[in-house]
Amino acid sequence: MRALVLEAQDQPLVVREVPTPEPGPGQARVRLKAAALNHRDVFILRGQYAAIRHPAILGSDGVGVVESTGPGTVVPVGLRVVVQPSLDWGDDLRFQGSRYRILGMPDDGTFAEAIVLPEGNLVAAPAHLDDASAGALPLAWLTAWRALVTRATLRPGERVLVTGIGGGVAQAALLLATAYGARVWVTSGDDAKIARAVELGACGGARYDQPDWGGRLVREAGGPFDVIVDGAGGEGFGQLVRALGMGGRLAFYGGTDGRWPALLPQFLFFKQVSLLATTMGSPVEFAHMVAFVAEHQLRPVVDRVFPLAEGAAAFARLESGAQFGKVVLDLT
Ligand SMILES: NC(=O)c1ccc[n+]([C@@H]2O[C@H](COP(=O)([O-])OP(=O)(O)OC[C@H]3O[C@@H](n4cnc5c(N)ncnc54)[C@H](OP(=O)(O)O)[C@@H]3O)[C@@H](O)[C@H]2O)c1
Repeated sequence: MRALVLEAQDQPLVVREVPTPEPGPGQARVRLKAAALNHRDVFILRGQYAAIRHPAILGSDGVGVVESTGPGTVVPVGLRVVVQPSLDWGDDLRFQGSRYRILGMPDDGTFAEAIVLPEGNLVAAPAHLDDASAGALPLAWLTAWRALVTRATLRPGERVLVTGIGGGVAQAALLLATAYGARVWVTSGDDAKIARAVELGACGGARYDQPDWGGRLVREAGGPFDVIVDGAGGEGFGQLVRALGMGGRLAFYGGTDGRWPALLPQFLFFKQVSLLATTMGSPVEFAHMVAFVAEHQLRPVVDRVFPLAEGAAAFARLESGAQFGKVVLDLT
């Protein structure tokens, strides 16, 4: 089979022939159709990730069709599935166990024509999604689901703020929260992305690179936020804490903008707020997320689809930050 291979640090990704993996007991081989990139793939490519091994096939997302199964596997051949990217989550739904890995490093990932996975990592793909949007669903939507639903216990009618709406997780959070019946505001470094978010259901937004954006959003929203979902961190985190209302919940999953500023405890304890660290999600959460997406006919935003042979260009698109929506590889 062909795969997009990272042969060494900071080397261009190359498409080459690699052995097609065979499924063992309880496993299935999926003929992949599409797989989206995540920022994690860029971090690995740039060496900003612990324990990188080479050569490697990256990729945590994917959709495809089961083409063969190992002994004792019950998932039917021919089923169209999305890939659940949390490997060996463990028995405790509150957090992952010591054997936990995210698909796509150190285990080979989905930027290939086929992959072998435990059948527990395969979930029937929502029928309303085409390959590009189904292949964009797994990692970003799982992360957004756990942040909003499990950690922040979102309720209909609440005021929600999602930061950096150009991001894949952020867009999933916007669409999930809107479908939940919440009212959502966003931040971005780009007015055009705020306008696109409003088309997707956001009530409004503000530029995070302009002064007092947190205060302006609170005034625009008619009050402070019940739930904030943040992947950026950085200096702006101080504004987020101040924009939380009484009993507010701030779920954070990323640190794109780096270190938090010093925070005054008084801004937190008087309002009885919760700062909630969150990462990926369990297989149970993935199943619930996919069912919710199917029930509400939600659709990940796809920025652009690149053929596997143009994988390096797909990475450059994500690194540029110009994308709105997921950057997807066509693996057919
Ligand atoms: N913990 C987890 O399980 C988990 C899962 C997925 C991702 N992550 C992490 O979360 C982050 C985002 O991941 P992703 O895949 O969604 O990335 P992505 O699709 O590449 O999006 C990154 C977005 O960050 C936004 N951004 C940049 N600087 C910002 C700032 N100062 N304030 C607010 N937003 C800012 C930009 O939004 P605009 O374009 O709108 O300006 C950009 O589009 C990464 O650090 C990633 O490693 C963690």
